[in-house]
Amino acid sequence: MNSFVSDVLHEFRHDANDLLQILIRIQDRYSQVSSKHQELIAAGLDIPRTRVEAVVQFYAFLSDTPRGDFNILFSHNITDLMLGKQQIMDQLCRKLGVQPGQIRADGRATVDNTSCIGMNDQGPAALINGYAVPRLTPERVDVIVDKVEDNAPLYEWPDAFFKVETNIRRSDLILERNYVVGAALDAVIARGDEAIMDELHRSGLRGMGGAGFETARKWAFCLKARDHERYVVCNADEGEPGTFKDRVLLQDYAHLLFDGMALCARLIGAQKGYLYLRGEYRYLLTSLQDTLERRRSSGLLGHSIRGVDDFDFDIEIHLGAGAYVCGEESALIESLEGKRAIPRTRPPFPVTHGLHNKPTVVNNVETFCTAAKIADGGGEWFAGIGTRRSKGTKLLSISGDCSRPGVYEYPFGVRLEQILDDCGATDTQAVQIGGAAGHCVPEREFHRQISFEDLSTGGSFMILNKERDLLAMVQNFAEFFAHESCGFCTPCRIGTTLMKDLVAKVTDGHATRADLEEMHHLAKIMRSSSNCGLGLTAPTVIIDTLEKLPEVYARRLGPKDFEPAFDLDHALEDARRITSREDPDAHIL
Ligand SMILES: Cc1cc2nc3c(=O)[nH]c(=O)nc-3n(C[C@H](O)[C@H](O)[C@H](O)COP(=O)(O)O)c2cc1C
Ligand code: SF4
Repeated sequence: MNSFVSDVLHEFRHDANDLLQILIRIQDRYSQVSSKHQELIAAGLDIPRTRVEAVVQFYAFLSDTPRGDFNILFSHNITDLMLGKQQIMDQLCRKLGVQPGQIRADGRATVDNTSCIGMNDQGPAALINGYAVPRLTPERVDVIVDKVEDNAPLYEWPDAFFKVETNIRRSDLILERNYVVGAALDAVIARGDEAIMDELHRSGLRGMGGAGFETARKWAFCLKARDHERYVVCNADEGEPGTFKDRVLLQDYAHLLFDGMALCARLIGAQKGYLYLRGEYRYLLTSLQDTLERRRSSGLLGHSIRGVDDFDFDIEIHLGAGAYVCGEESALIESLEGKRAIPRTRPPFPVTHGLHNKPTVVNNVETFCTAAKIADGGGEWFAGIGTRRSKGTKLLSISGDCSRPGVYEYPFGVRLEQILDDCGATDTQAVQIGGAAGHCVPEREFHRQISFEDLSTGGSFMILNKERDLLAMVQNFAEFFAHESCGFCTPCRIGTTLMKDLVAKVTDGHATRADLEEMHHLAKIMRSSSNCGLGLTAPTVIIDTLEKLPEVYARRLGPKDFEPAFDLDHALEDARRITSREDPDAHIL
């Protein structure tokens, strides 16, 4: 057997649950996972070859054909496009002599698109062999071309290329740097599990990943589950376009996060935790692993945490490989088990049947950080700010047309107009809140508030000024969903593609009123019968813009009452050629 493959299999103890992690290693080493590799891995893990193949095909960062020695993937979110991404990418392709999506003849480079990589405050950005390179400029492209042509390994590239700024612009309860590492654990050890669970209940903390489920209730459900083998999982997939606040927490507040996970473990009786880190944030992997190691040696992780006999808990980091749907908690669990990330049918929910079918708490990075702060500061302290149903603060990732993009922490209840003022946005046409899956809010609604009772968001806040074509954003998101749909259920698999084609038809000026009605009809089907949140929310931006900003569509409509999406006359081109007919009667007009 190939010795690299066999070493990797050995390192992962031939455990099929680690299939995805094994494949990522092989991809890194060989720029592909060839069919030969797939056979070796299947034999080494004693699983069917088809399972390996299916996983390779599912994740965007894995490939069964070679990618270039330098695999350059441009973040293709609307905010990157607004910052000139396409011109930069074209320049790079031209200078390297490579077509987008194709490998250069000498195998040196591939340049392609990928979904949002979470660098919206410092775009345009790309991943080079998995590592984020933000703030791309024409000058940087010239350096990249030189380095690629010189075949220089990444460690010889300028450090500045890989520097990711945190851009924290406004701090409040969570981002204020007044937390002493380990304080949440000291609190639970000193006051007892029940007292801290009460604090969490009192705090009213709700999940920060988007759905807003009460955190204390989730943890209490898990604690009540019959099975005693339990898991804590941190969702650091952060794939929602325009969101990057978890990136900042992982970069600058890792101890707070790990304290939050250990606190959860203590309260639900878990001994093992996983941090599911999106592949796009691989640049954080080493520093996160170092932090875990330091915690082990200082008694904050591992056996007998803080000297308490029955407090054992450790954390492992798993990398994702470029699939937005992995952020959906049950898909994330499938991915952690080394499978394709197909969302599970629920119920049962992860709190009773999660990882390895055992009770599992899945929470967002910000939720764990906030829970640690509450254990330290108390539930009432936290509930003292915010609104009636949205306690505490929310981290927003602000990008797009403003002079100060970055992470802003606000008490819940803050109005859009204040946020726009603070971040230097002027002449704003609309704000897209909650990412591609979220809501498009036009200017006349800027008095609205960020809160679960009004505009709830996982944290994405993208600003578009009056010079922007909102349809370009809608099209970008429609393409995103068609690309990211896992394909498991028909309403989403077909619906996202039909929606993408209909939006393209509007953009091209061929759509009619009948097409807009078809969009409403499709949205209804997707919202009522998709299997998971991806399909349920994919039409939101289309319906929002159709209803609130109809002029965006109206000015693009063609003159006809109906224009078929399928061009029958064009389709008969071959038949006419074969029969040598070019006379008018051979055409359908
Ligand atoms: C398509 C899709 C993508 C999601 N992506 C994320 C994500 O990147 N991060 C996250 O925390 N939650 C994400 N969620 C929500 C999770 O399913 C889950 O509700 C969340 O991790 C629970 O944590 P919380 O209660 O702390 O918010 C996503 C949901 C869907 C449907
Ligand atoms: S809604 Fe979409 S992403 Fe979710 S299971 Fe169905 S096809 Fe997959």
